[in-house]
Amino acid sequence: MRNIDEHTITAAVLARIASAPDARLREVLGALVTHLHDFAREVQLTEAEWKAGIDFLTATGQTCSAVRQEFILLSDTLGLSMLTVAMNHSKPSGATEATVFGPFHADDAPRVDQGADIAGDAPGMPLFVDARVQSLDGAPVPFAEVDVWQADDEGLYDLQRGELGTQRRARGVLQADAQGRVRFRGLMPTPYPIPTDGPVGRMLVATGRHPWRPAHVHFMIKAEGHQTLVTHIFRDPDPYLDSDVVFGVRSSLIGRFVEHAADTTAPDGTRMTEPYATLEQTFVLAPRT
Ligand code: BEZ
Ligand code: FE
Repeated sequence: MRNIDEHTITAAVLARIASAPDARLREVLGALVTHLHDFAREVQLTEAEWKAGIDFLTATGQTCSAVRQEFILLSDTLGLSMLTVAMNHSKPSGATEATVFGPFHADDAPRVDQGADIAGDAPGMPLFVDARVQSLDGAPVPFAEVDVWQADDEGLYDLQRGELGTQRRARGVLQADAQGRVRFRGLMPTPYPIPTDGPVGRMLVATGRHPWRPAHVHFMIKAEGHQTLVTHIFRDPDPYLDSDVVFGVRSSLIGRFVEHAADTTAPDGTRMTEPYATLEQTFVLAPRT
């Protein structure tokens, strides 16, 4: 095919991939090309804008490292991550909803015992969590794996603190007991900004957006016969519940964090010399389909 112009080029590219052996690849790449071309025609993309886009994506890739995933951050802040979660994890009524995974999960989090203090030396108000894992019918799910991670009250995950090296804190993997119950000590979550020192931060400034996530604790719960649940529990009140930079808030995921004064006894029996908080939370897992 010769003499391709701005109207015929889309069909020419589609014809070129029409015999790709993988039908799903053909479908996804074909739709991507179609929408990309329509987008360029719609905005009448200039060459300078095309170059700015290429430079932005290049910088996004160059900002990625073993502990920084700027492309996921871009997907998150453009709502693509939450759209993908919403399409792939619509839960039956009564099941706990899913939200974004985010870039700060670590595969090498320590496995800890029931009642453990996962905060370590991370700064923040102590939080005592008492969680129950159930099926849709209300029956406890025994021995679920409960992976928890959170930022400290300076707004940073351990992975973001170069000074910690490979030390892990404010995260841990627990196993629920035979009654589906899991207890641990962590940190009262506080709002924090996503990393703004890269291309995504520049995009947020250029579009007049703030970088904040409302306070939350991450959970990933796995159990036999059930769908894996990736979610957060948010805290109310929080100034960013209605403007989460990654669009991850669902009303059903707002937990009841209760603050307690010093000189009282925490749920694990510790006499507390400082204020602390408690959270009782039930997670309802959808059956595996
Ligand atoms: C997080 O909650 O850890 C997170 C999610 C998406 C982007 C940045 C951070
Ligand atoms: Fe987070």
